[in-house]
This record gives sequence, C-alpha cells and structure tokens, in this order.
Amino acid sequence: MCYFGAVTIRPEFTNFIPEPFLLMQDNFPVPADHDRLIAIARKWGTPTYVYFEKIIRERCQELIGLFPDLPVSWLYAVKANDNPHILKIIREEGFGFDTVSFEEVLLCRRLNTEPDDIFYTENNMTDAEMRDAVTEGVVLNIGSPGRLRAFCEANSGRSCSIRLKPDISDGHHAKVDTGNEDSKFGIRMDLLADVVQIAESHNVTIRGIHAHIGSGIRKPENLLAELKVLLNTAKKLKSLDFINFGGGIPIPYLPNEKPFDLDEFTVPASVMLREFLENVTNRVRFYFEPGRWIVGPAGLLLTQVNTVKNQGRKWFLGTDTGFNHLLRPALYDAWHEVVNITAEPGSELLVYDVAGNICESGDILGVDRSLPETRPGDILAIRDVGAYGMTMASYYNRRALPAEVLVTEKGFHKTIRIRKTAEETITDFLRDTGFPEKSSV
Ligand code: LLP
Repeated sequence: MCYFGAVTIRPEFTNFIPEPFLLMQDNFPVPADHDRLIAIARKWGTPTYVYFEKIIRERCQELIGLFPDLPVSWLYAVKANDNPHILKIIREEGFGFDTVSFEEVLLCRRLNTEPDDIFYTENNMTDAEMRDAVTEGVVLNIGSPGRLRAFCEANSGRSCSIRLKPDISDGHHAKVDTGNEDSKFGIRMDLLADVVQIAESHNVTIRGIHAHIGSGIRKPENLLAELKVLLNTAKKLKSLDFINFGGGIPIPYLPNEKPFDLDEFTVPASVMLREFLENVTNRVRFYFEPGRWIVGPAGLLLTQVNTVKNQGRKWFLGTDTGFNHLLRPALYDAWHEVVNITAEPGSELLVYDVAGNICESGDILGVDRSLPETRPGDILAIRDVGAYGMTMASYYNRRALPAEVLVTEKGFHKTIRIRKTAEETITDFLRDTGFPEKSSV
C-alpha cells in the first residue's frame, strides 16, 4: 500500500478506465468523461495534473506525418513538460529532444537518449556547462558571438550550431516573443559574417543554423517568413548538416478559438523545402521543435473548491491550487477553460472568478467564468495545461507541488509524480537548506 497526500491508495483500486471520450459542456469538448476525472480526484486527491497518453501519441503521429517525403525530423521541447514518463512516450513516437539547460540535457541522457538526438540551445551558458555538454556529445546550439568565440577557443576541430535572430516577431504574448528586434535571444543576422569568421579561424564547423521566433505563433506567414530567412542564409553556408526552424505551433485555448491550420503552413513550407533541396543542396536535414502543441491539450489540472465567497461585486471560487501550480494566467493573462465536473446536472449558470490559494491578489486562475452553481467540495478541471503547467510550478508559499497522473493508452491510471505531504515538504526544505531539524529560531 502506498500513501499519496491525504488519500490512501491500494493497488487493487488502480482501476481500468475505458478510452477517454469527448463530453460536451456548453459545446466545448472535454477530453475525458467527468466520472473518470472524479474517480482520479477521489483517489489521488487534488491538486493533480492528469495527462492522456493517447492524445500525446496521436499528436506526435500527426506531426510526424506532416512532411512525408522530406528529410524532416522532430524534436520535442522538453521545457513544455519534462515528466520522464511523458518524455518516454514522445521518444517512443520518434522524437528527439530540444533542451535549454544542462539539467534538461542530463535528464534526456539519463533516459538513454543518444547525444545526436539531443539539441542543447544554450542561453547564457557557463564555461562548465559548455564543457559538460561537449563531454555528453549533444548538439550544441550557440546563441551569442561571445559564447561562440569561447566555444571555438576551447574546441578547435569540433562543430556546433548557431541560433540566429531573424527579426520576425510573433508569440501569444510579448513575454514569449523571441524574434523581435529587442529580444535577448540569438545572434543578429548582420553579425553572421563575423561569427562565420570566428568559427573558420578556429577550425570549427558550423553544422547547423537555428531560429525560434516565439511561442504560440499567431500567423503562419511569420513561420514561413522565418523559413525563408533561414533557407536563404543556408545558401551562404556550405558546411550545414541541418536547419532547425524552432517550435511555436499554437493551440486554441478559448472555446471559440480556431485551431492553427497546420496545412496553411505545411503546404507552402513543403514547396520551399523541396525547392531548397533540389536547387541548393540535398545534404541537409530539417528540424522543428514544438512543445506546447504536443502536450498542451493532453493535460488538465484537477482542483477542489474550498471556499465560495461573495465580495460585493464578485463571487469567488477559492481553490486548493494557484499560480504556484499554474502560472500562465498570472504571467501572461492566459485563458484556460475551467469546467465544474461535479456540478448537479441542470444547475443554474453563475459568474465566478476562480481564485487560487496563494497569498497574492493576482492569484486568479479565471475571471468572470460562467459555471454551474458551485459549492465547496466541487472539483474543477482546468483545461489545456499539459504544456508549461507543471514545469513552471514553484514552491511559493511553501506549498507542495501537485501530483501527476497518466491515463495510459489502455485506460489505466498511473502515478507519475507523488504529491508530498506538508510534513515531507518541510522536512525536505529543512534538509535542503541545511537547517538542523531539531534547532529553533
Ligand atoms: N524551441 C525553443 C528554443 C524555445 O525557446 C521554445 C519555447 C520552444 C522550442 C517550444 O515552443 P512551443 O512549441 O512550446 O511554443 N511559458 C510560456 C511558453 C514559453 C516558451 C519558451 N520557449 C507559456 O506558458 O506560454
């Protein structure tokens, strides 16, 4: 028997769940029926992130099928969701990994990913991290002239990739637009000749070029413009093995939001890529590195309503989670659909703000949400949080992190991260801070 938070789980209760199917609430599909989610909330307690393996696999397969006759490979942006069980699924579907820290590199290496299938897009990397990445043998993607020089000085005869900044601006929020003129990322296009010279003078081969213009790209034409810039740049560089066009494919969050039309991008993109292979060189491989598109819709966060409160002009639903577990609404004003999965059928719709339990006024998960009349003890499902949910969670207010549960393809529940108890959380904190257990302040 194992113990997770406030709920005791017996192995024989790890029950079978039929295929997740679509249930409609206000014409909005929820990727699992409510009874299954309630069963998970009862067994694992809340807050709990729930992911659906079937959705992740189907989305991976959809991407892999997009460019059937072209040398295109796919990397998954680990930062979107780095639970090793999720990484294993995505790897099995044929993805390599896009990493942005040495820790992420190490995580992928520990999962036995071959170094060639790990891209490390550095950001203000230290010399020690650079040495370690070279030792691991991963593909190092360098984003500044200074770091390139340091790499070249220490690694004559080796190769690397460079991250360029093509001055094409996009992203769902200014904070995730990486291509604009003032963005900290990448090497300016007008410095290309200089960095090539640095590499050549140290006998270092630039074997790849990369750009990532933003996350949650709004306009396919911006991605196409980026392709054009990188393909034109590649014409000038004879040593390339690959061109990496980054990630950024968006998902719809609002009920009436139109999904990004993949064809609108892939049809003209295929023409451009094929033309490049035919007229310039057929030696190169192309990469894309999405994160959100794969895992975002495959995850939801279950939370319990602890308080229902009228503050004069507004009604608040006070939940047992907050921006410590789901930062996107507070950081980007992001909109996530909230569904009451325990409401009485046919209850009157009322307008609520969905509030977190963090001691800050900005800890609001949803504003002016129309929900069936909600009572303390009800369970809410916050949708489309499989990407940048748990990976951005923190210990703010010293609260424990949520549990994570995977609904496997065959419909079983699997714990993929336990929730620590308050006792365990504080014991670990005192140990990590080196504070003697028995001493007093
Ligand atoms: N490649 C690089 C170099 C990146 O920096 C990113 C995301 C990706 C790929 C994957 O982008 P995606 O396909 O997931 O859009 N926390 C924000 C998103 C930050 C993305 C940072 N970089 C959010 O919750 O919206």
